[in-house]
Amino acid sequence: MTRRTVRIAMNGVTGRMGHRQHLVRSLLALRAQGGLDLGDGETLWPEPVLVGRRAHALRALAERHGLTEWSIDLDAVLADETVEVYFDAQATSARVDALTRAIAAGKHVYTEKPTAPDLAGALALARLARDAGIKHGVVQDKLFLPGLRKLKRLVDGGFFGEILSVRGEFGYWVFEGDWQPAQRPSWNYRAEDGGGIVLDMFPHWEYVLHDLFGRVTAVNAHVTTHIRERRDEQGKPYTATAEDAAYGIFELAGGAVAQINSSWAVRVHRDELVEFQVDGAHGSAVAGLRGCRVQHRSMTPKPVWNPDLPVTHSFRDQWQEVPDNTEFDNGFKAQWELFLRHIAREEPYHWDLLAGARGVQLAELGLKSSAEGRRYDVPELAL
Ligand SMILES: NC(=O)c1ccc[n+]([C@@H]2O[C@H](COP(=O)([O-])OP(=O)(O)OC[C@H]3O[C@@H](n4cnc5c(N)ncnc54)[C@H](O)[C@@H]3O)[C@@H](O)[C@H]2O)c1
Repeated sequence: MTRRTVRIAMNGVTGRMGHRQHLVRSLLALRAQGGLDLGDGETLWPEPVLVGRRAHALRALAERHGLTEWSIDLDAVLADETVEVYFDAQATSARVDALTRAIAAGKHVYTEKPTAPDLAGALALARLARDAGIKHGVVQDKLFLPGLRKLKRLVDGGFFGEILSVRGEFGYWVFEGDWQPAQRPSWNYRAEDGGGIVLDMFPHWEYVLHDLFGRVTAVNAHVTTHIRERRDEQGKPYTATAEDAAYGIFELAGGAVAQINSSWAVRVHRDELVEFQVDGAHGSAVAGLRGCRVQHRSMTPKPVWNPDLPVTHSFRDQWQEVPDNTEFDNGFKAQWELFLRHIAREEPYHWDLLAGARGVQLAELGLKSSAEGRRYDVPELAL
């Protein structure tokens, strides 16, 4: 077995996603299992080079994880020819600039979503990457969650018959920061810093709908800022300039309609923080992050509307749990593995910067739809 080291510049690793999901649960987890076995006698060994703005935070992070390489000089890291990949999990507003520099330096790039604050920026990145001939990928982690993989299995197996509708419910209460600290960064609530639930979540809904049910062909959204004042990490009050809830209707190629609520101002009365109910002519399913339950047409009860009588049975108990039938790894790690294989072995990879641009396009059109009170067609993108 030969071992090939892939040096990966990781920017934004002191943040929530960069640290927990990408560094610890993905690349360090790969190292803990001995690297990525390519199955042909070669193992890829990811070597993170931590990049950021704060030396003390990077040093502490590197020491904590037994890593030796970190830098606050992005240009120097990009000039290092032994670094093959640039990864970005910075706050959204810092992304385009860093990715542009990484592509110009000839690095393969892998990035968190959204790839840019607007469609023009997202498409420009995709074009730069194409022209530079580098490989590129965008995080689309929800596709790799156990619940959604089971749902995809049902779609592929023809369980639903004609798919009629998709109903998504995402959200939880994000504390305002006054009497309990907020559990999300304050920039999420400031439009000028790349915040807002539409730019955050519509890119996810775009690829989930696209990969499972069909491309989004039209959007109609209503967005609002329910909580108008919050407190930041220092306890200082600030005005929320970005929306914290979005109520969207998405028309899909193939005729199904999806309706997804996204909110950081909702209290959870669900089994999981996101759930999708899919109703098909032959069966229905409710999928969350991990679980997935189904009800086949043959098992569908016949409720009769009668408010005078109490409900004597549990509708939830009439669904069956879909078995795992496989082992599910962390979704971020699963996608990293595919991206690294794409780099090492030319294996196909379609979750690229053009796919990322589709997510930004949907966010942009969703915001326009809400601002103007009208439905927007979503044109197919090409480079
Ligand atoms: N795939 C997912 O499920 C998912 C979930 C949450 C967030 N995200 C995305 O990941 C990215 C990071 O989100 P997060 O929640 O980890 O944010 P965070 O605030 O916790 O981390 C941001 C990181 O970027 C760095 N940074 C660099 N320039 C910055 C600037 N100008 N302002 C603020 N921070 C700056 C910070 O130091 C930190 O390391 C965002 O683009 C977000 O959209 C993805």
